Amino acid sequence: MHLRSIAGNGKLCLLFLSLITPTLVAQISPDVAKLPWMTPEGKALSPDQRADMVVKEMTLDEKLQLVNGTGWGVLRKGDRVPARSNLGAGFLDGIDRLGIPDINEADSAVGIRMAALQSRYATLLPSALGAASSWNPDGAFLYGSVIGRELRQQGYNMSIGGGIDITRESRNGRNFEYFGEDPILAGTLGGNLMKGLQSNHIMGDIKHYAFNDQETGRNILNVLLDKRSMRESDLLAFEIAIAIAQPSAVMCSYNKVNGDYACENDYLLNQVLKKDWGYKGFVVSDWTGTHSTIKAVLAGLDNEQPGNETPGKDFFGLKLKEAVDAGQVPAARLDDIAHRVLRSMFAAGVIDNPPVRRVVDPFRGRDDAQHIAEESIVLLKNANHLLPLSPTATHSIAVIGGHADVGVLSGGGSAQVDAPGGNAIDPKPGRSIWGQAVYFPSVPLREIRAKAPNAKVEFNPGTDNAAAAAFAKTANVAIVFVTQPMIEAHDAATLSLPNNQDALVEAVAAANPRTIVVLETGGPVTMPWIDKVQGIFAAWYPGIGGAQALANLIFGEVNPSAKLPVTFAKSDADLPHPQVPGIDLKSEAEKNHVPGIETKIPPFDVDYRAEGARVGYKWFESEHKQPLYPFGFGLSYTTYAYSNLKADAAQKIATFQVKNTGKRAGTEIAQLYAQLPSESGESYKRLVAWQRVKLNPGEVKTVTLTLDPKYLSIFNVDKNDWQLLTGDYKLSAGPSSTETPLATTVKITN
Ligand code: BGC
Repeated sequence: MHLRSIAGNGKLCLLFLSLITPTLVAQISPDVAKLPWMTPEGKALSPDQRADMVVKEMTLDEKLQLVNGTGWGVLRKGDRVPARSNLGAGFLDGIDRLGIPDINEADSAVGIRMAALQSRYATLLPSALGAASSWNPDGAFLYGSVIGRELRQQGYNMSIGGGIDITRESRNGRNFEYFGEDPILAGTLGGNLMKGLQSNHIMGDIKHYAFNDQETGRNILNVLLDKRSMRESDLLAFEIAIAIAQPSAVMCSYNKVNGDYACENDYLLNQVLKKDWGYKGFVVSDWTGTHSTIKAVLAGLDNEQPGNETPGKDFFGLKLKEAVDAGQVPAARLDDIAHRVLRSMFAAGVIDNPPVRRVVDPFRGRDDAQHIAEESIVLLKNANHLLPLSPTATHSIAVIGGHADVGVLSGGGSAQVDAPGGNAIDPKPGRSIWGQAVYFPSVPLREIRAKAPNAKVEFNPGTDNAAAAAFAKTANVAIVFVTQPMIEAHDAATLSLPNNQDALVEAVAAANPRTIVVLETGGPVTMPWIDKVQGIFAAWYPGIGGAQALANLIFGEVNPSAKLPVTFAKSDADLPHPQVPGIDLKSEAEKNHVPGIETKIPPFDVDYRAEGARVGYKWFESEHKQPLYPFGFGLSYTTYAYSNLKADAAQKIATFQVKNTGKRAGTEIAQLYAQLPSESGESYKRLVAWQRVKLNPGEVKTVTLTLDPKYLSIFNVDKNDWQLLTGDYKLSAGPSSTETPLATTVKITN
């Protein structure tokens, strides 16, 4: 038990007992209301003006307080935990005399990390990749607002979630934290998520800037890519998200880009982020991603994390003070850092509206998570209309594998959320163990049983293929759950499902032709058994409402609407890099149990120059490769027809009609693509706009989509600007990137 004080109107106005946190101590604040930036007149000023007022009052040491964190804290056993830390991954001391609160930072990519450490609860949302599968900016806003709400209730004022790296590498261990392969879709969804998060007066962060597109060798690899491709691919996702959300912070990544670490990369930080995009927030390093003092600070890094608890052992802090004293770093640059941190705090509202701790509402979180999951789970195959299952006509269901009797899989690493009651497959109270696949108690077996109370619904763990096949043989339908645990710092070696699960599906499908597969994966996988099963759902990691959502989709209470935000390749050989670059070196070192692997294997290049901006479907189209499932693909229990595409260059709009030609109400994600004039050199089309269209049976709606000039432009490196070429643009519309029944040409003249 402890006393927590909150200052207001110059006095300690409120004292209350918290039963939750044993360590937190009071932040002593002065007569806050009299500080000029806190008076009613002060509050009416802009965040920048208010920040300037504070910076003027600050001593050198106070400014330096804002440049680095205070060490690993709870992240590393035995390290010092600052007295006022809320026990998240990052902490920055506030400046009491100026009424500037501490910054308590929590990892929160798909829900808040490390809640169990404090006997707190956090909602596990579906993978961010699942949210991207909804193509729904409002759904993404809701996703972010769940995280923001719970952060605030847990006493945090900053999120360090918000991953937006695009899926250049289908086997990337962190794809589940990101929004897929298309920069416009990823930027739009990621930006709206961050907007929802920040709407709770929480500082948001977008990461990992940039090109942290694989985890293998992430601290030592050097990405090679030309500027035009950079701007039209990964950087475009960041540009869009930042424009939408104006996040408080951007986290630079571990890797190098064209020779310089991302956290000391003048091109990425100063030139693109701060100058070209006019970004006003601060740049925070990924944890230990800082490699220098003067180079980094002059290149645009503003904040080192996690910092070192011993003064002088980090690159910022004392070393930065020495550099400022020696005139190697202008004092104005330190003021700029302080300004950026403070203006972000004012803009997010964490100074005017500090978090108020409350009990998190698990029901509300679960309902939101379920709703998002229902829009996230993609129906990939439905032969002979096997789905939706009839609860009355289906007399027996064999549920097999994937621990579907106890829960659904979640993603690992710093995006791991603690499961209520502990890991469903190994229940021990407390914080999740790094590297262990954690299952959440949203139980497919239970939910399927609940939907079909008169059917015989039994479970087989799928650990013995012959036994699973025999078990499946007698049932009306077999539902096989397959899982692919993924975690930060590791990539999948191949697109194949791990642990021989392909053989399990083959065995079950051979025994029962009415087999449905539910994929719980971090991203795309191969499916050698695709022709032998009748139903396939890509459920990603579906979150705490995942099983309920899945059961609603299986039995048709919800009509599937999600579409793939990533291409599923037929084999690793079809990807731009048939093998994850560097994975051989890493696995060799792993075999030899080399400690600190990335310090022992030589740095290597990851050369993206051949594919350039041709990420995902753009690569497949321009290389004339057939995917297993294309970007934008997803089935419904109804059918849609497209007609009458028209474009108006002057109005910058395209219109077409979509009709629900089936018997159920549904939501179609209608997509518009553009192929630029040949002068662009692009041999592929780009997604330029989409809309979710809700349609009753027989209903027709006109879809009107805006043609955003930037999304039709190329990046002109010589002019360092976007350029809309004149000429003929081939527009096409339809239900996926490979099915675009409508086409028209629009002429753009300048
Ligand atoms: C991850 C970041 C995370 C940080 C703090 C790093 O290893 O790359 O995404 O925010 O740790 O936990």
